[in-house]
Amino acid sequence: MNEDTWLAVDEYFEEQLIGEDPALESALAASAAAGLPSIQVSVCQGKLLYLLALAAGAQRILEIGTLGGYSTIWLARALPSNGQLVTLELESHHAAVARQNFKRAGLAERIQVHVGPALETLGRLREQRVAPFDLVFIDADKPNIPRYVKAAVELSKLGSLIVVDNVVRGGAIVAPEPDASATGVRQLASWLAGQTQLSATAIQTVGSKGYDGFLLARVQS
Ligand code: SAH
Ligand code: DHB
Ligand code: MG
Repeated sequence: MNEDTWLAVDEYFEEQLIGEDPALESALAASAAAGLPSIQVSVCQGKLLYLLALAAGAQRILEIGTLGGYSTIWLARALPSNGQLVTLELESHHAAVARQNFKRAGLAERIQVHVGPALETLGRLREQRVAPFDLVFIDADKPNIPRYVKAAVELSKLGSLIVVDNVVRGGAIVAPEPDASATGVRQLASWLAGQTQLSATAIQTVGSKGYDGFLLARVQS
């Protein structure tokens, strides 16, 4: 089994279970044309986020790390028409591309993009006492992952689901000398180990994005 097989399997399930999707495909084309890196979630992962948001009955979703808004579109599609998605992005260029993609997808009314360092925006959201989020997707700079999860808990309620991308990174999580990104995830895992407020697991994935994984945590109290 190698990466070619992982890619072929992803393509097979994309074709069988997801099919063509002009809004998402044009978001990817516009993001590539604008020079954004192609590091968004895969097609099958995007649909997983959509199904998780539907299963959670999410009415309010928070995303940290927008890029061109590919994962955002998947998540926002799971919202009821009066639902809201708040997405945080450091780079104003990424945010501008994303906003265009949301307009084209007919989702602009449900999505608010906040530009700036996510930790600062999260602090402001707390000060403003915004309504709690039902689902949080964390996919920005990896060294800040433990801080993002703690902020997400503060903005959540009983039953909220927190999903963290890129917790495996080709196995970097268990490297003898973990890099700053793996260290962020390891700090999160050891914090989770010492508390009972969150019930968590991590799932390794292979596919068109190589070998990686998601961490999922539910707010229990
Ligand atoms: N969720 C997207 C991919 C996000 S890529 C998708 O799957 O479609 C990671 C994004 O996080 C990049 O756009 C990067 O600019 C942004 N980012 C990096 N550091 C950040 C920070 N401190 N605050 C907010 N966003 C940040
Ligand atoms: C990469 C992948 C990601 O999912 C991400 O959020 C950031 C970077 C990467 O492959 O470099
Ligand atoms: Mg990611």
